[in-house]
Amino acid sequence: MSARSIVVIPGDGIGPEITRATVGALERLGCGLEFVYAKAGLAAQEECNELLPQSTLDLISQHGVVLKGPLTTPVGGGFRSLNVTLRNHFDMYANVRPALSFPGTLSRYEDVDIITVRENTEGAYLALDSFVSEDDERAESKMVNTRRASRRIAHYAFDLARKQGRKKVTAVHKANILKAVSGQFLDVVRGIAKEYPDIEYEEMIVDACAMKLVMDPSRFDVLVTTNLFGDIISDLCAGLVGGLGLAPGANIGDSASMFEAVHGSAPDIAGQGIANPGALMLAAAMMLDHIELHEAAEKLRHAIRETIMAGDRLTPDLGGDGSTQSFAEAVYSRL
Ligand SMILES: NC(=O)c1ccc[n+]([C@@H]2O[C@H](COP(=O)([O-])OP(=O)(O)OC[C@H]3O[C@@H](n4cnc5c(N)ncnc54)[C@H](O)[C@@H]3O)[C@@H](O)[C@H]2O)c1
Repeated sequence: MSARSIVVIPGDGIGPEITRATVGALERLGCGLEFVYAKAGLAAQEECNELLPQSTLDLISQHGVVLKGPLTTPVGGGFRSLNVTLRNHFDMYANVRPALSFPGTLSRYEDVDIITVRENTEGAYLALDSFVSEDDERAESKMVNTRRASRRIAHYAFDLARKQGRKKVTAVHKANILKAVSGQFLDVVRGIAKEYPDIEYEEMIVDACAMKLVMDPSRFDVLVTTNLFGDIISDLCAGLVGGLGLAPGANIGDSASMFEAVHGSAPDIAGQGIANPGALMLAAAMMLDHIELHEAAEKLRHAIRETIMAGDRLTPDLGGDGSTQSFAEAVYSRL
């Protein structure tokens, strides 16, 4: 089998720990992957005094597939999110975040199977025209929506639903208040829904959607929404299936795609060896599907599922007394 190269960015905080565990699983799958390591975030700043070196961007352009640990972004001031910068730089327009129940986890529901498809390049995340007045009294930020971006994310969501044999797409919006940006998004999705008569289509205002997700998640299938709502709603969905430790995410673009955990760098537990590598491992399975290594993807997902079901050496966030290493070894033993 010819080697397929993957750019690996270990990231900050717990990033290097969970990345090591995940690459270990990919190596044991023996599907001919080669790993090209690149730096970004605080590690890159320490080493080359740059948060996002040009050499990292060049490697991503060259190889097109990235497995990325979380990157720290300061709250309030400081530098702009490198995650957002990477997504925008490579126009990774679709952020796909599945939330799937795993038997044996501490969660409120056992039958959740929801995919959030989030528009990843516009909305409230552009930091365009962000402004704080000189007297620090007033802050402003602009939201942007385009028909083009709404069209491609809507197509992505409906195509994904069709490909995975899913039944329904729900457009999540706030068009009652944000009549221009959210209204335009909804108008576009509604039009595109007509091209997919085989998929049920519904619309829901984001606040009602949050409530219904908590009350009855089984009524949802695929959610399609704008950037900020998708960020929040997908974390809510992760909470429905036992927390961020099992929530993977993919950022899909035409020239490059990046696979990561939904969670962040977890500075509160970094370096303790107790971070759950499950979310990044599940992201790696999405990556394998993306590069058409479906059998390996399924094998990895199966091993993670079996490990969790057996309650085998799990990390503390899943109620176990194991470590990143013991969880990883339990997965490896099933590959
Ligand atoms: N895609 C990304 O790289 C990404 C995503 C979200 C947040 N961040 C960044 O991460 C930093 C920390 O953010 P935060 O603290 O709000 O969120 P976080 O997701 O890092 O942590 C939230 C809580 O979940 C726990 N947690 C997260 N991942 C875990 C795992 N794998 N195993 C066990 N417990 C886990 C943490 O210990 C913490 O208590 C911030 O700088 C933020 O900007 C990065």
